[in-house]
Amino acid sequence: MNKGNILIKNASEVVTCSGFEAKTGKEMSDLKIISDGAVIIEKGIIKAVDKTDKVLRFFEDTNNYQVIDASGKSVLPGFVDSHTHFVFGGYRAEEFCWRLSGISYMDIMQRGGGIINTVKATRAASQKELYNEGIKRLNSMLSFGITTVEGKSGYGLNYETEIKQLEVMDELDKTHPIDIVKTFLGAHAVPEEYKGKEDKFLDYIITEILPVVAEKRLAEFCDIFCEKNVFSIEQSKRLLLKAKEMGLGLKIHADEIVQLGGAELAAELGAVSADHLLQASERGIKEMARAGVVATLLPGTAFSLKEPYAKARYMIDNHCAVALATDMNPGSCFTESIPLIFALATIYMNMSVEEAISALTINGAAALNRAETIGSIDVGKKGDMSILEFPSYKYIPYHLGVSCVEKVIKNGKIIFDKER
Ligand code: NIG
Ligand code: FE
Repeated sequence: MNKGNILIKNASEVVTCSGFEAKTGKEMSDLKIISDGAVIIEKGIIKAVDKTDKVLRFFEDTNNYQVIDASGKSVLPGFVDSHTHFVFGGYRAEEFCWRLSGISYMDIMQRGGGIINTVKATRAASQKELYNEGIKRLNSMLSFGITTVEGKSGYGLNYETEIKQLEVMDELDKTHPIDIVKTFLGAHAVPEEYKGKEDKFLDYIITEILPVVAEKRLAEFCDIFCEKNVFSIEQSKRLLLKAKEMGLGLKIHADEIVQLGGAELAAELGAVSADHLLQASERGIKEMARAGVVATLLPGTAFSLKEPYAKARYMIDNHCAVALATDMNPGSCFTESIPLIFALATIYMNMSVEEAISALTINGAAALNRAETIGSIDVGKKGDMSILEFPSYKYIPYHLGVSCVEKVIKNGKIIFDKER
């Protein structure tokens, strides 16, 4: 029986992405590839990675290991999707059509649709319903090679439902092989009962919900939608400083539609990541680079909202660590598709395929404070990886929109196999 012991041998390449911290600048292009590579995973942890002949020379006992011959196949670290909102009730397909007819995302939100629409459905959904939908979405993510996903609350906007969403993610983390990292996004929008009283709503979050989230460790990060007509820079700073005091890591939905200075705020507060950044200023980007804040770019959202893309080239050329994520959510970007994100990042944001791989592996891990344990194929890290049905990582964006992942291995066990 496989106890998390696997030997992968003869891989046409092992794309190690080797490293234990976020990659910046030219480092993002160096994937540290081993051709004709092998990997040994023992009890779920990577024990060796090298050329196949070298690994086999020191490894005779194959009895206790599941052996995979990966001839003609590429092996990559599991993808880390570091920004999603995957636990939610209801859908908003009609809003997608309204946007096609020219009504903007923010207009829909101003008219009481958008996030608030999902809040109603999520408040009405039972824990079991949210859990069952969550499992289906995680299974879909798995088929794209995602082995760790971040999930945000933010469709409750009250104590009961924010906690319900975080508890559902806890349950999912226990039962589904994908690891889930939880973020508290109570300040995702202003609920109808607090309309016009944004500061009162923030007081409520700070005094009634955040302390419970922190104390019970229901989330590792705190996030806020810092945007014109949602939460201002001052309000964002107020909440995030409190969250920091209570021991949470910081994330921020920053400079998505309007340039408010969210990138600068992320740098000032030492956030782990600032996300979206479609309108981020050059000064803000440079400050993020200096402060070591990961820029998490979500090109699926820019694409779906027909907004201009984030300046990925400028960020990478100015040594800001760039991560890519799906932003999977029921409104602005309803997708789990990693190949879609690759296509958009390479074709529209002028990232190289190598930079996109780094952005979805080691830099995604860094955006979740986990670069020391996941995001690369290095000895001592978790045995999380995928095997492609093609010999090179270059097939990922090349095979437009179609997943090339044949097998996914999590903690040394095969948990997805296209062939079965
Ligand atoms: O990251 N921009 C704000 N929040 C989400 C969208 C949430 C929704 O529309 O339901 C995002 O795009
Ligand atoms: Fe988001």
